[in-house]
Amino acid sequence: MTLQRCDTIESIRGAVRAARAAGRTIGIVPTMGNLHAGHASLIDASVGDGHFTVVTIFVNPTQFGPTEDLAAYPRTGEADLALCEAHGAAAAFMPAVEAMYPPGARTSIHVAALTEGLCGASRPGHFDGVCTVVAKLFNIVGPDAAYFGQKDAQQAIVLRRMAKDLDFPIALHVCPTVREADGLAMSSRNQYLTADQRRQATALHGALRLAAERIARGSTGAAALEAAMREHLAAHAPDGTVDYIALVNPEDLTCVQDVNGPVLIALAVKVGRARLIDNLMVDPRDRL
Ligand code: PAJ
Repeated sequence: MTLQRCDTIESIRGAVRAARAAGRTIGIVPTMGNLHAGHASLIDASVGDGHFTVVTIFVNPTQFGPTEDLAAYPRTGEADLALCEAHGAAAAFMPAVEAMYPPGARTSIHVAALTEGLCGASRPGHFDGVCTVVAKLFNIVGPDAAYFGQKDAQQAIVLRRMAKDLDFPIALHVCPTVREADGLAMSSRNQYLTADQRRQATALHGALRLAAERIARGSTGAAALEAAMREHLAAHAPDGTVDYIALVNPEDLTCVQDVNGPVLIALAVKVGRARLIDNLMVDPRDRL
């Protein structure tokens, strides 16, 4: 089937209405474009579940802070459409900023507590922008299922809460992080890195693996694990600046002191112009 490109809210609604009339269920994959294998894995998951799959491609201005990379964010529309088509998406929704945020728009969605720590601490307002645009996309497309990446673990947890709290009748799926061969999590922001910074960036996954291995061997103290990760980063990514390293409860994102159940190990490191994030879910009971 050929990909339908929809630039307006009316046209995507029409495409979805026709798909439903033909008996299809709808899957949504929200993205900001510049699509890579990580995004493709989400499209594959939705298509694999049998949905008429709508990929939304919208660089959402409300989730960028005033000093962040909104203007520089890579926009690769034609290549994105080709990737969507190659992976069997049925429609790409690519709205204009003015269509999503017409003059006079005053509503935004705030998920409390879960948005305070980790990326929320250094990116004030970021998750309000994410929640608002995703809620709008849910309302525009009206999907049965939505697909997000574990790469943005806090985002997935916040959006799951939002969908529950606002009674969106949508099944949320969180798909595994897709990595480069050397472990670096795929990200549109990796292309901001110089060759040397790109080599250093593998230290993020290295630090996560180090902590996961220590937990598997019986370490439980979060402070010592964080210190070891910090040391690893200092040694292997000397040009990196750590924003945060955290071991948190994957349910409510509260800090963990002693690792005796499932833990989300998450970090954000600025390397050159790129702010990189990554995480691993670890369960110490796996070692038994
Ligand atoms: P974006 O960064 O384009 O990511 C779109 C989706 O792809 C997110 O669910 C993200 O977690 C997932 N993703 C990115 N890199 C991945 C990787 N290496 N492996 C697996 N999944 C990956 O996240 C956003 O856009 C925006 O905040 C959005 C939700 C679209 C709202 O504007």
